[in-house]
Amino acid sequence: MNLQGTGAIVTGAASGMGRATAVTLAQAGARVAIVDINEEGAREVAAATGAQSFPCDLADPAATAKAVGRAIAAVGPVRILVCCAGVGRMEPIVGPAAVPFDQLVNTLAVNLIGTLHVVKLVAADLATRVALEEGGRGVMVMVASGAAFDGPTASAAYSASKGGIVSMTLALAREFGDLGIRVNTISPGAFATPMIRGAPAAMLDDVIRMTPFPKRMGAPEEFAEMVRYICANRFLNGSVIRLDGANRVPYYSGLG
Ligand SMILES: NC(=O)c1ccc[n+]([C@@H]2O[C@H](COP(=O)([O-])OP(=O)(O)OC[C@H]3O[C@@H](n4cnc5c(N)ncnc54)[C@H](O)[C@@H]3O)[C@@H](O)[C@H]2O)c1
Repeated sequence: MNLQGTGAIVTGAASGMGRATAVTLAQAGARVAIVDINEEGAREVAAATGAQSFPCDLADPAATAKAVGRAIAAVGPVRILVCCAGVGRMEPIVGPAAVPFDQLVNTLAVNLIGTLHVVKLVAADLATRVALEEGGRGVMVMVASGAAFDGPTASAAYSASKGGIVSMTLALAREFGDLGIRVNTISPGAFATPMIRGAPAAMLDDVIRMTPFPKRMGAPEEFAEMVRYICANRFLNGSVIRLDGANRVPYYSGLG
C-alpha cells in the first residue's frame, strides 16, 4: 500500500508504540488521526507530526463513535487502522491488593471492546469506499500481548482482553474478505514504553535475562516498522505475529 496521502487512524498514539507508529506513518506521508484519552499527549504528538487529534475514552461507546466519525471526516477514507490504545496493569483478583470488579471490566472495555468498536466503525465506512489494487480497501492492525498466550500472574482481565484480540483476528479477516480489508495482530513482548516502566524492576530484569535474543526490551520503532511491513505486504492477512525476541512470560507466585 502506498502510504503517501493515505488516511490512517492510530489509537493510543499519545504514547509508546502508538506514538512511534503515528510518527512512522506520518513520515511516510500518511494523513494520521490520533484517537487517545490523553488529550495533552495526543496534541503534542499531533503538533510534532502534522497529525490531527481526536481525544476520547474508548471505554465510552458514544464518545468513541463521535471521535472516530470526526477522524474519518478529517483524514478519510481511513485505509489504515492501528489499534494501540490499551491499559496494562497488574490486577490481583483476591487478597489484600485485589482490585474492584469495575476495574477488571474497564480493562476489558478499553482493550477488547474498545478495539472491536473502532474496527467496526472504520470497517463500516471502508465498505462504502472505492476499492483499490486487487479489490483491497484497507488494512487493520490490532495489538495483543504475550499475556494472550503465557498467562502472567495477576493479569486475568488483561490476558483475557488480549486473548480476545488474538481470537478475533482471523474471524475479522474472514468477515472482511469480501470487502478487501486485511486484519492482522501484532503480539508484542516487553517493549520499553511508559506502560511497562511501572512494572517491578526485578521483573523487568527477568524479562531481559529470559529473552533469548536480543537481550533487551523492544523499541517502539521496531513495532512501528512491523506495522509498515503489514501495510506493505498484501498477502499478509488473518495473522498474529509475535514480536518478542522469543521471550515467554515466566511464572511468579502471588503478586497479590
Ligand atoms: N509495552 C509493552 O511491553 C507491551 C507488551 C505487550 C502488549 N502491549 C500493548 O501494546 C499497546 C500499546 O502499549 P504501550 O506499551 O505503547 O503503552 P502506553 O501506555 O505507552 O500507550 C497506551 C496508550 O493508550 C492510551 N489509552 C489508555 N486508555 C485509553 C482509553 N480508555 N481510551 C483511549 N486511549 C487510551 C493511553 O493514553 C496511551 O497513549 C497496548 O495495547 C498494550 O497493551 C504493550
